Amino acid sequence: MTAQDLSTIRGALLGEIAGASDLAGLERARVAALGKKGRLTELMKGLGQVAAEERKSRGAELNALKGEIEAALNAQKAKLEDADLDARLRTERVDITLPARPEAEGRLHPISQTIDEIVAIFGAMGFKVAEGPDIEDDFHNFTALNIPEDHPARQMMDTFYLPERPDGSRLVLRTHTSPVQIRTMMSQKPPIRIIVPGRTYRCDSDMTHTPMFHQVEGLVIDKTSHMGHLKGCLADFCRAFFEVPDVPIRFRPSFFPFVEPGAEMDIGCSRKGGELKIGAGDDWLEILGCGMVHPKVLQYCNLNPAEYQGFAFGMGIERVAMLKYGIPDLRTFYEADLRWLRHYGFPALEVATLVRGLVPQ
Ligand code: DAH
Repeated sequence: MTAQDLSTIRGALLGEIAGASDLAGLERARVAALGKKGRLTELMKGLGQVAAEERKSRGAELNALKGEIEAALNAQKAKLEDADLDARLRTERVDITLPARPEAEGRLHPISQTIDEIVAIFGAMGFKVAEGPDIEDDFHNFTALNIPEDHPARQMMDTFYLPERPDGSRLVLRTHTSPVQIRTMMSQKPPIRIIVPGRTYRCDSDMTHTPMFHQVEGLVIDKTSHMGHLKGCLADFCRAFFEVPDVPIRFRPSFFPFVEPGAEMDIGCSRKGGELKIGAGDDWLEILGCGMVHPKVLQYCNLNPAEYQGFAFGMGIERVAMLKYGIPDLRTFYEADLRWLRHYGFPALEVATLVRGLVPQ
C-alpha cells in the first residue's frame, strides 16, 4: 500500500465523520473506521504482513491516523450535541403564560387565628409568650396556685388524672393555663409580663364544653402594677380584639384562690332579635377571670409579697373566638369538618396585615 492509498483512506474516513449529520450517522462512521472490522483496524491487523523495514514507519502512520480519527469523532460528537441542544432550546419552550392549575388552599383554624391576634395585641403592649406542659403535676396545677388538697375548686375543675405513680401521686392534664404562671415566676426574675396561650383539659362535654379547649393566661409581676393597670390593659385588649372603639367593660368581684381581690370581667353587648352584638346595648357577657396575684402564690414562687405584686387574668379562647366571628356552636371547632373550616377558617399569611389594624396605636 502506498502513501497515496493511505491518504485516500484518511480522506474517506475523515470525510465520513465530518459528514455525519446525527449521532447515529457518526456511530456508523466510527464503526467503519475503528470497529472490529473497520478500515483502520484491518490495516493495523495487516501490519504483520508488511515488510520488516517498512513496518515501523507504517505503524507510526497508522497510529497517528487513529489519533486523528478519534479527535475528529470527538469534535463532531460535541458539534452534533451542541446543535441538538440548540434545536431543543428553540423548540421545547415552556409557556409561562399558561394559567397555573388551581391548588387546594389550606385555611387557618379560627383558634389559630384568634391566638395569633391575641398574641399580636398583647405583644404590642410588651408581653412575651410563655408556654408550659399539657401534663402537669399537682403542685403547679393546684397547690402553688393556692388550691389546697381539700379545696372544692379541685372538684370543680373536673380534672383528668393520669394513672397513679409509684409514690402515689398522680399527674393531671392541666385544667387551666395558670400553672404556667408558677413555672414562669419560679424560673424568671420580675419584671414579668407574659401571656400563655395553650390547650387545657376538663372532663366535661356538652353544648358549651369540650374536653379539650384553649385558654390564654396573662401575668404581670413587678413592684408597682395595680388593679388600674389590669383594667387598662384588658380594656385596651377588648377594643383592639373586638374592633369596637368603646366597648363597655365591667368588673364584678369573684373568687379564684390564686388572686385577691379577684374579679370577672364582662363586656357590654346586645342580644336583641336573637343576634349578639358586642359593644352595644344593655346586656353583659362574661369573658374572663382576673385579679391581683395572691400573696401566697408569690410566696410559693419564692417572691416576697412585701416587695412584689402584680395581676393575672385567664380567658377562654373559644369563647372570644365565637363572639368575634359569630360561631354559634363550640363543638364544631373540633369536628374536623372541612366545609366548616372553609367557611370559618382564615387565609394563611394575612394575620400580619389584619393585626396592624387591631393593635392600639
Ligand atoms: N384559671 C382560671 C380558670 O381556669 C381562670 C383565671 C381566673 C385565671 C383568674 C387567672 C385569674 O389568672 O386571675 O377558671
